Amino acid sequence: MAREQWKSQFGFLLAAVGSAIGLGNIWRFSYLAYEHGGGAFLIPYLAALLTAGIPLLILEYGIGHERVASAPLAYAKISKRWEWLGWWAVLFVMFGIVLYYSVVIAWCLDYFVLAFSLGWGDDPNAFFFEQFLQVSKSPAEVGEIRTPILAALAVVWLINWAIVYRGVQRGIELANKVLMPTLLLLILALVAWSLTLEGAGRGIAAYLTPDFSRLSDPKVWIDAYSQIFFTLSLGFGIMIAYASYLPRKADITRNALLTAFINSGFSLFAGFAVFAVLGFMANSQGVAISEVASESIGLAFVAYPREVSLMPGGNLFGALFFLCLVVAGLSSAISIIEAFVAAMVDKFGVDRQKLVTFICVLGFLGSIVFTTRAGLLWLDIVDHFVTHYGLVSVGILECFVVGWLFNLPKLRRHINRVSSVQLGGWWDFLVKIFVPLVLAVILAGDLVNELQKPYGGYSWTSLILIGRDWLLLTLAGAFILACRPWRTGSREEGGRSD
Ligand code: ALA
Repeated sequence: MAREQWKSQFGFLLAAVGSAIGLGNIWRFSYLAYEHGGGAFLIPYLAALLTAGIPLLILEYGIGHERVASAPLAYAKISKRWEWLGWWAVLFVMFGIVLYYSVVIAWCLDYFVLAFSLGWGDDPNAFFFEQFLQVSKSPAEVGEIRTPILAALAVVWLINWAIVYRGVQRGIELANKVLMPTLLLLILALVAWSLTLEGAGRGIAAYLTPDFSRLSDPKVWIDAYSQIFFTLSLGFGIMIAYASYLPRKADITRNALLTAFINSGFSLFAGFAVFAVLGFMANSQGVAISEVASESIGLAFVAYPREVSLMPGGNLFGALFFLCLVVAGLSSAISIIEAFVAAMVDKFGVDRQKLVTFICVLGFLGSIVFTTRAGLLWLDIVDHFVTHYGLVSVGILECFVVGWLFNLPKLRRHINRVSSVQLGGWWDFLVKIFVPLVLAVILAGDLVNELQKPYGGYSWTSLILIGRDWLLLTLAGAFILACRPWRTGSREEGGRSD
């Protein structure tokens, strides 16, 4: 069967932007910026974007487009020995990231409904941890499934399924044509509204006032590179699969630049809504911004609900905020599922629709562990291992395989032939040396921290059994899949530049 293609390059761009803009853009970026020197954080952030994010995104688009293949097939076409790398990426995102990512979208869906009646009451902190999640004391105490979360999760997986089932054009492309403009409208409304709040200026000032002294801290740079990596969905196998659906004539570099700048622009813009609201809260409660700003989950599910409760029309504001998260999350979740589906279809030639149904049911069942009372703790551990070790390792090896085993100048010539912005030898240097080196430093830093004290105060047993073994199991799965034979013909087809 002929490979499906995007209806238009704009459709591809929307889908790629949809994958990139996710849950992390709305609160994680703004929190990092605030923590790491406000406006000054833009320097490491932009440096990371230009020296690693964009070059790697071009590489992923380039290889998907040139090899006309999902991640495992693309690597197999470079060297059969490295096929496992593609499988590992798509396996730990499909049976790791998307399982808990969908649960966080489910929380947002529940909070969207709760927002109308400000259902979190007077103490959003106690509500979130004790009533909503009913978090158990340790990961070993799994406890019962939280039914409100399970119900929302079923809805999330149903939507995931309904979109991916319909294929590239009629499913993913069409869905993003609805989801992305909706997201834009929602964020515009949120930012405009939040800027009218009393104290908004104070929050924005805290967000953007540059503190250049923070730039001497290596952690600031490491966090900037990690954030760029996750936010552009690099190392997930997604961008390779998405680019494989492009027609022969497709502007690779321009699409990569647009994806990267739209994604970062969105993060920067969303930060205004987040910090204007924090300013409002600091103002109304007479406290410092540093007391109300908190990282990720705390910001979205505790600080934000507390603030919207105090705002005139806050229930509508809260609903818009959580809807925004749901929309951003869904467009990323479907891209992860597609990366895996594309790989399985390439390898085994299985019926796409049956496969999508099967893996969405499996995905839903797999997500259930994160809806239990220990769900938050499991999520935290799996996320830590998959994003800190899985994605970064894939990034390093990807640079090695494509940079050193593949004919990189040939790939560059292919990209230049179809693109408007031309790549020079500097790109080879970034891919072959600079990016893997930076990622190796990040990986080494993480490993040292890991060994010094157990992450998050969890027991070593939990970290090993849940975190490390999650990665090792997917790695074992990757080797098994790589050993299976390819459907006839798929591996023999050359690339577009052969
Ligand atoms: N790129 C997606 C995000 O930032 C996965 O959430």
